[in-house]
Amino acid sequence: MALKLNKEDNIGGQDNPVSRLREMAFKPPKRIANYAYVQSMDDYEAMYELSVNDPEKFWGQIAEEFYFERDQPEGEPFFHYNFDITQGPICFNMLKGAKTNVCYNVLDWNIQRRGIGKNIAIHWEGSETDDHWSITYDELLVEVCRFANALKSLGVKKGDRVVVYMPMIAEITITMLACARIGAVHSVVFGGYSAESLAGRLIDAKAVVVVTADGAFRGDKVIPLKEITDKAIQLCLEQGHNVEHSIVVEHLPRLKKYELMGKKSCIQGPLDKSYHDIIANQSDICVPEWVDAEDPLFILYTSGSTGKPKGVLHTTAGYMMYAALTFKMVFDYKPGDVFWCTADIGWITGHTMMVYGPLANGATVVLYEGTPLYPSYTRPWTVIEKYKISQIFTAPTVIRSLMKFRNSPMLRHDISSLKVLGTAGEPINPEAWLWYFQTLGGTKCPIVDTYWQTETGGPCITPLPGATPTKPGSATFPFFGIVPELLDEDGHVVEGEGEGYLVFKQAWPGMMRTVYGDHARFEETYFRRFPGYYYTGDGAKRDSDGYIWITGRVDDMLNVSGHLLSTAQVEAAILEHKCVSEAAAVPIEHPVKGEALYCFVVLNEGLEMNKSIIGEINDKVRDKIGPIATPEKIHLAQGLPKTRSGKIMRRILRKIAAGETDFGDISTLADESVLAALIKPAKQ
Ligand code: WT7
Repeated sequence: MALKLNKEDNIGGQDNPVSRLREMAFKPPKRIANYAYVQSMDDYEAMYELSVNDPEKFWGQIAEEFYFERDQPEGEPFFHYNFDITQGPICFNMLKGAKTNVCYNVLDWNIQRRGIGKNIAIHWEGSETDDHWSITYDELLVEVCRFANALKSLGVKKGDRVVVYMPMIAEITITMLACARIGAVHSVVFGGYSAESLAGRLIDAKAVVVVTADGAFRGDKVIPLKEITDKAIQLCLEQGHNVEHSIVVEHLPRLKKYELMGKKSCIQGPLDKSYHDIIANQSDICVPEWVDAEDPLFILYTSGSTGKPKGVLHTTAGYMMYAALTFKMVFDYKPGDVFWCTADIGWITGHTMMVYGPLANGATVVLYEGTPLYPSYTRPWTVIEKYKISQIFTAPTVIRSLMKFRNSPMLRHDISSLKVLGTAGEPINPEAWLWYFQTLGGTKCPIVDTYWQTETGGPCITPLPGATPTKPGSATFPFFGIVPELLDEDGHVVEGEGEGYLVFKQAWPGMMRTVYGDHARFEETYFRRFPGYYYTGDGAKRDSDGYIWITGRVDDMLNVSGHLLSTAQVEAAILEHKCVSEAAAVPIEHPVKGEALYCFVVLNEGLEMNKSIIGEINDKVRDKIGPIATPEKIHLAQGLPKTRSGKIMRRILRKIAAGETDFGDISTLADESVLAALIKPAKQ
């Protein structure tokens, strides 16, 4: 171990080792490295070289682990792609002409070849601690087949789009797999989105069916998913799009708290069908639809920097193999491990790391419906202890929201089952990284900071837990098949140590194939800026050891007196202060500087903002970035407005900073009281 720190160490002040942490490398613990699939950097490098120099051989070996109903016809190229917009249309095909089925692979084929039918596929844990149940692989297969048959009986066929708007319950996985089984294309819309957003996606995807649930608990509050779906279907009608069926899972009556509610069925409209009724008389057997390796598997909407959301389209064989391999390698998943990903299935993280990746490996996952802090902040520890979780995968924002609580009550839980700790979604500041490593992992679990996107299908820059020495805040090195480059403003490659736009030079199996219904937008967004490369939209640095550090979206930059600053960079500096638990920086207009920084800061429990803390925070930013980045204003907040998936809603913070009171659509906000507290004049 490169650095020794005690659990009680103060990890934020001036005279502590946090700043030096960025340069420190933590070797993989022996108890992991000795048993890992990849046990050293030499092994990693050998595999990596093969994956990028001879992708056909590398991915060909992976493909052998899967079932193909028909192999690729002779003469078809294994990989075929063009990333250079000046040379013709952007395209990528892999194993085109081969026939397979993802659902068959992750269920039937896995049950047969691994003998895992009696193993648990999903442990479902409700928001309340006494709501929980489990489903085996055999049971999952039966449920999936029955629902697939039900969908067929409603007329759903290969290529049709099915929108899924559900809470975190097993039926969301069942629906996705049932669609895959019959060749229908699922599009999961995060359950925190509003009726209008749902309608926009239903229309864009030209969905024929929506699968939803009556509702879900968020703490003591019920989210009326069915009501929102009804509104969305109405909005679709007004815009000339007919959704043909609305299938409703009656989830609430299964919950203990349901007793407290007035019981009333929400299945009343002409399009409504009860999920439970339509599967009741279906056969347990459903012959899979054999689809082309390049047929679509799903669409997942992601926000675009301008205009409407983009429907990111993923296809069958490449996505399946990439999800399976990244899950296995990044978490070093071994039979018997129990995996917990806290991300909502409505995000790519949930698709790849809660559904396709784990199931392709015959894994057991915990699907948790609630929020990390409910009913108290010790919930994550109780879940880890209850299921003996081996790997946990979460986001820096969750880690930071837990960090402000002291250790002691958590230490009463036995969390010794933990092996690997993952994070993704945003740059992780070294303090949060260290807290994760020390307090949750007891310095025994490697941290895997995985960089990826909805578009990439799986992690692209990531440590491997048994091989990669990690540095707090760095996503480290490319995954197999990924060739990252840093480019300067003019598209020249930055060699060695330096900073630039992060791009990928070669196609990899899990990458998106198009923006649904708008290939021109796909080409424009990802391939126009730097011909010959996939453009991520992120900035990154490479240090003298070759480690890659993601610096954040290049579009989240602001310009103060002609200097480009990344808001993420400023936040990281503020978060180094020992009293700060969360921070968000947004640009405000400034008459002289053009833009200036307005920073929202949440302090640790029980602390009050005072002049000296403000001064110290300013000093931190000045010290870390330079006087140019000194915040114009520091706004003490009780909490930050977040979506239910934990992404800070910067759009709202920008409006507050600008003194505006019309916040637009706030339906995706997890907790509206946070907003009310923010717009009250802040006492400082
Ligand atoms: C954007 C993609 C992890 C997939 C789920 C999010 C940022 C993601 C990291 C990381 C720094 C990260 C990037 C990326 N991001 N992971 N480990 N370190 N930044 O998928 O919603 O499509 O967001 O999240 O800015 O472009 P997404």
